[in-house]
Amino acid sequence: MTIPILLLILLFQGIIATENSDFTIKEATIQEIHTAFYQNKLTSKGLVEFYIEEIRKLNPILRAVIELNPDAIRQAEKADQERKANATKSRFGLHGIPILVKDNIATKDKLNTTAGSYALLKSVVPRDAGVVRKLRESGAIILGKASLSEWAHFRSSLAPSGWSARAKQAVNPYVATVDPCGSSTGSAISVATNMVTVSLGTETDGSILCPSSANSVVGIKPTLGLTSRAGVIPVSPRQDTVGPICRL
Ligand SMILES: *[C@@H]1O[C@H](CO)[C@@H](O)[C@H](O)[C@H]1NC(C)=O
Ligand SMILES: *[C@@H]1O[C@H](CO)[C@@H](O)[C@H](O)[C@H]1NC(C)=O
Repeated sequence: MTIPILLLILLFQGIIATENSDFTIKEATIQEIHTAFYQNKLTSKGLVEFYIEEIRKLNPILRAVIELNPDAIRQAEKADQERKANATKSRFGLHGIPILVKDNIATKDKLNTTAGSYALLKSVVPRDAGVVRKLRESGAIILGKASLSEWAHFRSSLAPSGWSARAKQAVNPYVATVDPCGSSTGSAISVATNMVTVSLGTETDGSILCPSSANSVVGIKPTLGLTSRAGVIPVSPRQDTVGPICRL
């Protein structure tokens, strides 16, 4: 007698909670996040801090992130100030949105660009990759570098998907024993597990599509030449392309 009543109450509360449910960061789209910014329910700083906390919790197991940008919180604070100054202007593009880029895409900041290999650690890139320059212009915050199959899986045909010397073995968050695929492994896992809003991957032969499929996210492999490859560690000029990975 009391148990069905309890269930009813719980169910009722559940319904109430759903109807009144406020904005939640988990699974939010860029548009929902921008609306939350606009309605003062969220700040870029709060969003970056949320993702950093998730990365601290999940990354020791999933190994989707190689490096965090030590300037990310400062950049988020700057985005929040810009929004205060002009909310209209800040509703466009990727203003205040954190993004992870695969570790074979150059960033001219404190982050290393290594394709997962110790061989390139501390190397200094001349400038941001073309796609990173565009991301910054559009207001995005580079949260860090995503893990990958080392050298975009051109280290050895026998190397496992999602393994690199620097990040070690990335793990499929849905079924740990299933191949997370690669080579944009961390770009897919981080988006699937709400460690970031969106990410960039690269593809030479299935490296965006396969990990997106294996980790239940959406990846687009743009037509060759549609996205800039400047500042991206090359594999083949006939096949390399840079593309986004995001949630549905
Ligand atoms: C805010 O930005 C919009 C869009 O760029 C612009 O049209 C508007 O003049 C700006 N407002 C102020 C107060 O600067
Ligand atoms: C880049 O690599 C150097 C050398 O290992 C390290 O000291 C530095 O912290 C790395 N940068 C970031 C942002 O992790």
